[in-house]
Amino acid sequence: MKKPILVIACLFCCAPLLAQIKTKAKPKPAARLAAVDGKGIYEKYCLTCHQGDGGGVPNMNPPLIKTSYVLGDKTRLIKVVLNGFSENVDIDGESYSNVMPSHDFLKDQEIAAVLTYVRKNFTNKAGPITTAQVKAVRATNKKKI
Ligand code: HEC
Repeated sequence: MKKPILVIACLFCCAPLLAQIKTKAKPKPAARLAAVDGKGIYEKYCLTCHQGDGGGVPNMNPPLIKTSYVLGDKTRLIKVVLNGFSENVDIDGESYSNVMPSHDFLKDQEIAAVLTYVRKNFTNKAGPITTAQVKAVRATNKKKI
């Protein structure tokens, strides 16, 4: 006679557990966040000068294809985007007359995404730039001003 009561009691006990299993199946909040689109940022902020294929414009805007800036020191590369570039120095043997404005209005993760896109496209095969690296460079960058 006591058995049905036990079964019912057990069902009550298990209900919260079952509910938990259900919530666990939901995608985690991080996975639902839209990934920052490096290509989209490139097309919006960099393409007009550096062109869709990263080839640049002769004597005006340098290419982003295997240059020492793109493939070299990550801090220097991040600073180009944060501070802009108007040094009029030779970039791998050429000089460019145009001035690149500062893009420090972009978020750390946007700069990381666009530079990762540049370093992995246009026949470049360099490792990614992380949001943490951009954050660190931005922090030291501010101190100097
Ligand atoms: C208004 C045009 C313009 C825009 C927009 C622009 N750049 Fe530049 N960029 C230049 C010019 C011009 C130079 C070289 C400046 C010099 O030689 O004084 C340069 C230099 C660079 C360099 C270092 C040199 C090289 O060729 O490797 C990198 C890297 C770079 N830009 C990346 C970017 C990225 C990424 C964006 C978008 C977030 C961007 N630029 C937006 C014009 C631009």
